[in-house]
Amino acid sequence: MKFYLETYGCQMNVSDSELVASILLGAGWEIASGIDEADLILFNTCSVRKHAEDRVLGRISNEKHRKLVKPELKIAVLGCMAQRMGKRLLETGTGVDYVVGVDQYQELPALLNQESGLDTEFDFQQIYPGLRPLHQDKTCAYVTITRGCDNFCSYCIVPYVRGRERSVDFGQIVSEVRECGDKGLKDITLLGQNVNSYIWGDYNFPRLLRELNQVESIYRLRFITSHPKDLSDGLIEAMAGCDKVCEHIHLPLQSGSNRVLEAMNRKYSIEDYLLLVNKLRAAMPEIALTTDLIAGFPGESESDFEQTFQAMREIQYDHAFCFKYSEREGTTARGYPNQVPEAERLARLQRMIDQQREITLGKFSAQIGKKVEVYVESLSKKSDQKVSGKTRDYKIAVLSGSVSDIGNLKTAKVIQATAGTLICE
Ligand code: SAH
Ligand code: SF4
Ligand code: F3S
Repeated sequence: MKFYLETYGCQMNVSDSELVASILLGAGWEIASGIDEADLILFNTCSVRKHAEDRVLGRISNEKHRKLVKPELKIAVLGCMAQRMGKRLLETGTGVDYVVGVDQYQELPALLNQESGLDTEFDFQQIYPGLRPLHQDKTCAYVTITRGCDNFCSYCIVPYVRGRERSVDFGQIVSEVRECGDKGLKDITLLGQNVNSYIWGDYNFPRLLRELNQVESIYRLRFITSHPKDLSDGLIEAMAGCDKVCEHIHLPLQSGSNRVLEAMNRKYSIEDYLLLVNKLRAAMPEIALTTDLIAGFPGESESDFEQTFQAMREIQYDHAFCFKYSEREGTTARGYPNQVPEAERLARLQRMIDQQREITLGKFSAQIGKKVEVYVESLSKKSDQKVSGKTRDYKIAVLSGSVSDIGNLKTAKVIQATAGTLICE
């Protein structure tokens, strides 16, 4: 029996899909080489914005016709949408046979022995102890260090679909990272909705970083995501002091207006945030900053929006993920008065994207002439004489090379730049 797994949403879902693949392989399933060959199609889904859900519902509806010619075919929905919609996904006509929430993947093989099934219980204690994800990539790996979120930002569905925050056993993380390095996965990204609040006994996040920095077989350490309210001086010190921790931080700002930040329940002001940026840049002058921003949060006035726009110019992010606010059932912001009209949200989003494109191009162009360290991850898509990888500060770089360079560090000089790639030699 073969399965085909399609993943939507954030890196946490990518990592969960690797876990699911590993669980299914352990139970005797095989990976289908394509969707046509599958006996089971799994969709690992995202609920963060309405658009993300609509896309998957569209995909399921496109694939369910396969059951007409292959009646034994089964369809499973996993992940955040499974958690949010539960048995509504099993209603007649959807084509869905199984709905499995984010903490129940170990139950998946047993559930698949039944005709159909639903399991969306949260697990408040254990986090898949002892299990190892099936790493698809040959050079980079995600390692989950926390699951869930306790922050309840007023716009966000994640705390409701991922449950309470729990940290993974310190020893398990260290051995997983070591195994990754030994297998040749030398660029490690630690994952959590808010990695800064990692806690296991006496080990907090800075201490975890220092410990992982000792793992000889890896080259690089990264982490996402950091919540500004929990970014401590101790963490900045650990980042600067650990040679494997890369000069990049993803630090979602969401809005540049204190009024909006307050309504978002973000628990920091723009002044707090700017202070953090200064501290980070003082400790690591070359650090790249990336962020998430939301356009058109309820009650966001033109002047609030201008403050976000101004903050972007002031901070000069290397990259920003800009989103249009999307109402999510069950979140507090959904009931807020003064929802910004859709057309206005879209117009503001476009202005943000346009401004950021210019800033990003400036940031990438400023690298021309510099020497960078590139971890070669693959052959370039455009030419087999070229390879592609990332710099320490999370920029895609392309340079001459061949298959034998994959998995190695190269020093290269930047000779040209676009708003997404450094061309090197
Ligand atoms: N835990 C991470 C990521 C959460 S989801 C963090 O705190 O940053 C990733 C991003 O999606 C968020 O940072 C936010 O910018 C965006 N997002 C979340 N809910 C949203 C919503 N309802 N509408 C639009 N964007 C949203
Ligand atoms: Fe959502 Fe806020 Fe938690 Fe991030 S920190 S997942 S934005 S509630
Ligand atoms: Fe990630 Fe989407 Fe879930 S952003 S945590 S997959 S709601």
